[in-house]
Amino acid sequence: MSNKFTTQSFLDAKLKKEKITMLTAYDYSMAQIIDTSGIDSILVGDSLGMVMQGHHSTLDVTMDDMVYHCRCVSRGVKNALLIGDMPFLSYHTSTEEAVKNAGRLIQEGKANAVKLEGGKNMIEPVKAIVRAQIPVMGHIGLTPQSVNIFGGYKVQGKNESKARALIEDALALEEAGVFSIVLEAVPEELARIITEKVKVPTIGIGAGRYCDGQVLVINDILGMFSDFTPKFVKQYAHLKANISEAVNEYIQDVKEQRFPEKEHTFTMDESILQKLHE
Ligand code: KIV
Repeated sequence: MSNKFTTQSFLDAKLKKEKITMLTAYDYSMAQIIDTSGIDSILVGDSLGMVMQGHHSTLDVTMDDMVYHCRCVSRGVKNALLIGDMPFLSYHTSTEEAVKNAGRLIQEGKANAVKLEGGKNMIEPVKAIVRAQIPVMGHIGLTPQSVNIFGGYKVQGKNESKARALIEDALALEEAGVFSIVLEAVPEELARIITEKVKVPTIGIGAGRYCDGQVLVINDILGMFSDFTPKFVKQYAHLKANISEAVNEYIQDVKEQRFPEKEHTFTMDESILQKLHE
């Protein structure tokens, strides 16, 4: 029997009240580790603009970047549901562009589903992509592609009208056919209300305990990205320090001629060697 986690598994998990686990990945090796560890879903997030490319926001990420990283990740994934993020301006200009770009993530990037940011304002592209038989994950709350509208990375939905607008966004996305909705940086009480109101699972990032699942950026949980650490991140490892230590040891070994040793070295037949010296 296949262990593949599917969009149907997302819906089943909500019904069975089983929490859904999701992490980002951007390359083959990491995807393989995360997948074999048993994660339910892997997101190739446009957060790669920050953690892979070193930009200050996700706005510089292109469709070609996303396709490239999705394809790398897909080779390491056997069981997790692979979701490709639609980057800034890849679904905003027309529904035709949105379907074409979502299709690229499926055909070229080998993703199983796509994610895009926005609620009521993005219902047309969501419907068009779903009509093309491509599963869509919604994303509301703090949507990083709107950073210039929000004026920074701020918690969303704190007053009544903004909270009501987010509830309406979630209901509109559900109605448009998404299989799941990411809730980013919203108060957990609001995330709870949304989670109870929609039948599709909510996946929280900085949205508290009551969401149907959780997602975090892999570089954040491994302690590899230190430009900034949001309040909602829990670090499960401190790889930045570990990597620094390993690199320092390597530098010292090379400088002091402790590396390479015999076990790392190839030798040749003595008789051939003699001829080379003649
Ligand atoms: O780009 C990303 O990694 C994301 C998630 C963290 C939800 O959108």
